[in-house]
Amino acid sequence: MVKYNTKVVSNMCMSPVVKWAGGKRQILDKIKAALPKDFNNYYEPFVGGGALLFELAPANAVINDVNQELLAIYKCLQDDELYKLMIVELDKHEANHNEDYFYEIRAWDRNPRFELEPLWKRAARAIYLNKACFNGLYRVNSKGYFNVPSAKKEKVKTYDVENLKEIHEYFSKENIQILSGDFVEATRTAKSGDFVYFDPPYDIPEDKDSFTAYSKFDFNKEDQRRLAECFKSLTKRGVKCMLSNHNTAYIKELYNGFNIQVIHAKRMINSKASGRGAVEEVIITNY
Ligand SMILES: C[S@@+](CC[C@H](N)C(=O)[O-])C[C@H]1O[C@@H](n2cnc3c(N)ncnc32)[C@H](O)[C@@H]1O
Repeated sequence: MVKYNTKVVSNMCMSPVVKWAGGKRQILDKIKAALPKDFNNYYEPFVGGGALLFELAPANAVINDVNQELLAIYKCLQDDELYKLMIVELDKHEANHNEDYFYEIRAWDRNPRFELEPLWKRAARAIYLNKACFNGLYRVNSKGYFNVPSAKKEKVKTYDVENLKEIHEYFSKENIQILSGDFVEATRTAKSGDFVYFDPPYDIPEDKDSFTAYSKFDFNKEDQRRLAECFKSLTKRGVKCMLSNHNTAYIKELYNGFNIQVIHAKRMINSKASGRGAVEEVIITNY
């Protein structure tokens, strides 16, 4: 049984609002079994869909992701006014949904002024596209334009009212800090006794063509090395760290000396059907 020195909002029952590549829901039990016995503040620098965050609901958390559309969603879930505006916009997308409408909304990011659009508009667009696109994938091209085709659904349900309400309450009432930068910056304030869960884009096994394009910024071998440095420096500061990744020779070399547990996972998101299947993953801890 894990003890949280930070308060945990134990009556909450939340789940991710978007389907996210690398989502951790199917291996949550294994991750939970590997959590430290106790910790103070919770950090998740690669939060993505936030499967572990919503499962644990720690009352003091710092979450971060480099993906600006995702961050727009979380910012709107935190602020009363933005939250209401986002829901109105989601209802509008549901009511207007058809094939042409999907491609019209998808094209918004081709406009250079898109980044100036209000957060609620960007957030609702991101959720709508996530629910209406093929496989719930978030993928952009080299220019940063969202390029996943429509799933050709007749109707699209963009949200679950109760779930959104709970997340809104959690983000607005508890001490949840939402950041949108690089993982190193996001962990700068972590202190001894805090806990950081790293779930980065995975290292690509030598023989596989895998998915890592969550944004226009690629996550390459050099980033994996920077991450291992960050893991080691947090370890020296007494911060408890856990990291998920593929079971590759490179990752095992980078984390040599830490606890490495090999697990089997069935990955659900891959653009090629042949790429879906069992892949070995690792859970690495410094405790
Ligand atoms: C494997 S996913 C996280 C999945 C998440 N745990 C879940 O359950 O959905 C990795 C995330 O890292 C983000 N990312 C990529 N490079 C990053 C960086 N340099 N700093 C912070 N986040 C980054 C991506 O946008 C993506 O959302």
